[in-house]
Amino acid sequence: MTKQDELKQLVGQEAVKFIKDGMIVGLGTGSTVKFMVDALGKRVADEQLSIVGVPTSQRTKEQATRLGIPVKDLDEVDHIDLTIDGADQIDKNFQGIKGGGAAHLWEKIVAINSTKNIWIVDKTKMVDQLGSFPLPLEVIPYGSHQLFQRLANRGFNPVFRMKDGHHVLTDSNNYIIDLHLHQIQDPQGLAFTLNQMTGIVEHGLFLNIVNTVIVGEENGPKVLQ
Ligand code: 5RP
Repeated sequence: MTKQDELKQLVGQEAVKFIKDGMIVGLGTGSTVKFMVDALGKRVADEQLSIVGVPTSQRTKEQATRLGIPVKDLDEVDHIDLTIDGADQIDKNFQGIKGGGAAHLWEKIVAINSTKNIWIVDKTKMVDQLGSFPLPLEVIPYGSHQLFQRLANRGFNPVFRMKDGHHVLTDSNNYIIDLHLHQIQDPQGLAFTLNQMTGIVEHGLFLNIVNTVIVGEENGPKVLQ
């Protein structure tokens, strides 16, 4: 396991300590969350912990199911107590970029329906300013080349996310466009602009969503609040 994976595993294990018996828990997506779901599966098996998971992607749903964690879709529960998710970048005000794994639409829907949100990251994700990580947009395929051009005209440096010559498809069968902005000076302003652009289903700016971040550092996980 790489050093970075060790840090991801550490924060995943730390995060499941926040999960209490009886909770409905949003399960994020990504390589860090994968370690968290492994640790949660172990608690469910070892402690007969009774929880319900609400996955934010098919990937996470499959992993949780495989591990014996009961799962429900978002519309089958009346609330979510806590969601634990990863992030691609977090600034000192806990504003973040998500969507590196093309799952930010479902992740954001689950997050805004959760009483509490925790992000788990290794220390490389903590930054002074957002933007060196490309900002993902989930977009409707219809007319997406026109949308791409409008984004390019605004100087947003859009790039369609491709794999093996095909568009990466989200769990809602949409495309991803990544904006190579390098720096985001005004996350709120940018979010407002992107929210107005027809064809964008959701952008990866997660603003004012979390108040707890668990950061993996060499000397142990650090809980920031
Ligand atoms: C998926 C996400 C992930 O949470 C984010 O990309 C972090 O992933 P990883 O833990 O693999 O670095 O937003 O859409």
